[in-house]
Amino acid sequence: MSQNASEASLFERIGGAPAVGRMVGQFYRSVFADPILRPYFEGVELSKLEHMQSEFFSAALGGPDTYGGRTMHHAHQGLHIRPEHFKAFVQHLFETLKDYGLTEDERYAIIAHINTYADDVFDSGIAPTE
Ligand code: HEM
Repeated sequence: MSQNASEASLFERIGGAPAVGRMVGQFYRSVFADPILRPYFEGVELSKLEHMQSEFFSAALGGPDTYGGRTMHHAHQGLHIRPEHFKAFVQHLFETLKDYGLTEDERYAIIAHINTYADDVFDSGIAPTE
C-alpha cells in the first residue's frame, strides 16, 4: 500500500507499542462511558479485546505487530452496528488521539485509515447513510 511510509512514521510518532497500548486502554474507557456504545460491550472479555485492538492499531499504523484476530467483518457481523455508533466510536478515537502529541493532520490520517474499515463493521445489507 502506498501509505506505508507515512503510516510507519505515525506508529513512531505516537510513541511506538507502549503508547499504542496506553492509547487503546484510554480509548476503551471513553467508549465504555458512552451510553450508546456501552451495551455493545456487555459480556465481552475486555483484556482480550484490548489486546486485539492494540495489535490491530499497531499493524494499521505501520508498526511491527501482526494482527492475529478475526477479520473486521467476522468480528462485527451480527452486532447490528449502525452508522451513528460507528461515528461515535471514531469520535472517541479522535478525542483520545489528542493526548498523544500528534498534529491534527496526523490524527485525521489515522481516522481516514480507520474509516476504510467502516463497511466491514456494519451487518451485510445495512448501507451506511453517509
Ligand atoms: C473501524 C472501526 C473498528 C475497528 C478497527 C474495530 C476493531 C475491533 C477488533 C480488532 C476487535 C477484536 C476482534 C477479535 O477479537 O478477533 C473488535 C471486536 C469488537 N468490536 Fe470492534 N472495531 C471497530 C468498530 C466497532 C464499533 C463501532 C463497535 C460497537 C459500536 C464495535 C464493537 C466491538 C465488539 C462488541 C467486539 C467484541 C466482539 C466479540 O468478542 O464477540 N467495534 N473490534
